[in-house]
Amino acid sequence: MRSAFQSPIGLLRVGFSKATHMRTPVICGNWKMHKDAAGTASFFESFRTLVDRSENCEVVICPSFLNLETAIRATRGTRIQVGAQNLCWATEGAFTGEVSGPMIRALGCSHAIVGHSERRKYFGETNESVLEKTVAAIDAGLTPIVCVGEHEKKNAGKALMEQFRYAIDALSDEQFARIVIAYEPVWAIGTGETATPKTAAAAHLLIRGQAKDSFGKEAANNVRILYGGSVKPDNAKSLMAQPGIDGLLVGGASLDPVSFGAIVNLSTCQASRTSSMSYAKSRVIERG
Ligand code: PGA
Repeated sequence: MRSAFQSPIGLLRVGFSKATHMRTPVICGNWKMHKDAAGTASFFESFRTLVDRSENCEVVICPSFLNLETAIRATRGTRIQVGAQNLCWATEGAFTGEVSGPMIRALGCSHAIVGHSERRKYFGETNESVLEKTVAAIDAGLTPIVCVGEHEKKNAGKALMEQFRYAIDALSDEQFARIVIAYEPVWAIGTGETATPKTAAAAHLLIRGQAKDSFGKEAANNVRILYGGSVKPDNAKSLMAQPGIDGLLVGGASLDPVSFGAIVNLSTCQASRTSSMSYAKSRVIERG
């Protein structure tokens, strides 16, 4: 079956090929530079009980480096995982102010966010450093959540593909199988303007289509692609209802246990169905 639809990121011509797959959703909170140790501990006191039935998705919280240990302690015995917001591409050495993958892993963390647009914008991260950090995270036994996303709506597909080409394409098949991708349109981060489920789904389809071209059908079917950018309890469910959206990367709304708990639980409802996934053979004609 072939279908075509007009998406905000260009005209996608999509040939679907069906395959049944289970991609366990990931709901990840990115706290950015918020909360001290006391705030971290009190968050988990309420949050733990709010999500103790959410068995159909992985729940990850990424506090600041300083509070990783507090978070690890507070989540012991729960299904909540803890991740870092960044890591150094080197394992050790004279890199003042940096924190390495092995150090993060040794604390008990499972994930690391890599290449968030704020790191690209304020701290000079490039596609090349994102690639190096992704490999460093994998080598340390962490799951990298690799962020991509366009700055402007215009030419979004082109910008996304460029980031994919330079930050992800050079991974080996084995490395690619270990990553999670987060699609975060920069214009939607912290602005309250969420991508519509249709726009987000189109971008996810594009990324998955590129993953198929680069790493093959199986790898593209298996990779989890999260959406991030002004996710709130009232839009989480409709975003997660899109078949290609495998989870959420949540900033502001993850700071409050009740709101993040609601997002996790809404997403879990969606996730409890067996997902019949499609991958796209997509041909994208950029709009000027
Ligand atoms: P936001 O942030 O949910 O506050 O828009 C998302 C992110 O930056 O990961």
